[in-house]
Amino acid sequence: MNVLIVGSGGREHTFTWKLKQSAKVDKLFVAPGNAGTAAIAENVAIGVSDFEKLGEFALKNDIDMIVVGPEVPLVEGIVDYFKADEKLSSIKLIGPDAQGAALEGSKDFSKNFMEKYSIPTGKAGTFTKETLAEGLAYLETEKAPYVLKADGLAAGKGVIITESLDEAKATLKEMLDGKFGEASKSVLVEEYLSGIELSVFVLTDGSDYVIFPEAKDYKRIGEGDTGLNTGGMGAVSPVPFANKEFLSKVEEKVVKPTIAGLKEEQIDYKGFIFIGLMNVEGEPYVIEYNVRMGDPETEVVLPLIKTDLMDLLEATANGTLSSQTLEIEDKSATTVMLVSGGYPGSYPKGKVMTGFDDTEDVILFHAGTSQNEAGEVVTSGGRVLSITAYGSDKDDALAKAYKAAEKIQFEGKYYRKDIGFDL
Ligand code: AMP
Ligand code: GLY
Repeated sequence: MNVLIVGSGGREHTFTWKLKQSAKVDKLFVAPGNAGTAAIAENVAIGVSDFEKLGEFALKNDIDMIVVGPEVPLVEGIVDYFKADEKLSSIKLIGPDAQGAALEGSKDFSKNFMEKYSIPTGKAGTFTKETLAEGLAYLETEKAPYVLKADGLAAGKGVIITESLDEAKATLKEMLDGKFGEASKSVLVEEYLSGIELSVFVLTDGSDYVIFPEAKDYKRIGEGDTGLNTGGMGAVSPVPFANKEFLSKVEEKVVKPTIAGLKEEQIDYKGFIFIGLMNVEGEPYVIEYNVRMGDPETEVVLPLIKTDLMDLLEATANGTLSSQTLEIEDKSATTVMLVSGGYPGSYPKGKVMTGFDDTEDVILFHAGTSQNEAGEVVTSGGRVLSITAYGSDKDDALAKAYKAAEKIQFEGKYYRKDIGFDL
């Protein structure tokens, strides 16, 4: 099979690395990819939202399957675009159509979905400019901390949590006044959930599902979970506190009703569901759905899967996932993200990277990297390189990742030295 992976981050490099191991895969392309994917597959200079060019490329190169990495093209309807075109409709896409992608694209839609199917989640109200007065009154009836969420996609920045009622009111106004553009035309005021977070990843063909190893990511830039939010600074899988009893609650109370709800809504969902959860005194509550894999969670989850990923993806596309069993490594995997100095604010690009050959016992997944004219690998993004290691437990794996993190050099390199500190 010829496969096209859409995206350019560490997640997409990991998909490329994993699919490269499948005897079923002939040619692997990544659009647009990075320096890491260029080394093991062929990069194609097409943006993730350029459906027309992606379609033309797929036809010309006999692509059989497209794996969509990020949420934006899914929410924009890449699956619908391919389905609607006679020449493209036989290509298998991994990812939901726009209706299914609304689980991530609209927090109001996903909240209503969870309420309708009795999936445990924080109680919430949704407000617009027209109902601002009701929103302010609603805030008065809530307890601190106050959680405000932009309804639409806001690149991971659309959630504001504050202890102060006055600040919450001011923030609600600002958001409805366009703080996050279109994304905050509607805003959810949500009950605060107190606990420890983790994520569970489900691959579904719309009726059946497999559950991948759970993971915990570290979103804040600073050690001890302080400072600004980032795309993710590191991850650990499995998560020690997610014992059998907790995971079985997740399956019964969250995964099963989610798949049943999608079916009931006649949403043809073939792809990943990333369920962001809060463990509140041993009970799982859904914080959010994402309609893709996580980044950097993918960099620890896929390396733990022994099963041929193409078998799983084909079964997903064909609706035969019930015939598949998932084999998982009996190890721990951790990843540490090297980022550009200044990230998540502004940062320089084009810094030459060295030391790749000095690392051992790790897998280097490129995120924001490219090649310059001299053929050197240079930084090209905020999150630059995800260093994954296996170990008998998380500490063993982290020690290897940190050793390699010291070896890779580029001007301004920063990484958190406390991944997994709270586990
Ligand atoms: P989200 O973009 O929905 O993942 O939210 C970003 C982060 O805000 C989450 O990872 C949580 O740490 C936090 N968060 C979101 N919703 C809640 C909530 N209801 N209670 C507590 N923390 C929350
Ligand atoms: N690491 C969080 C995400 O992929 O959304």
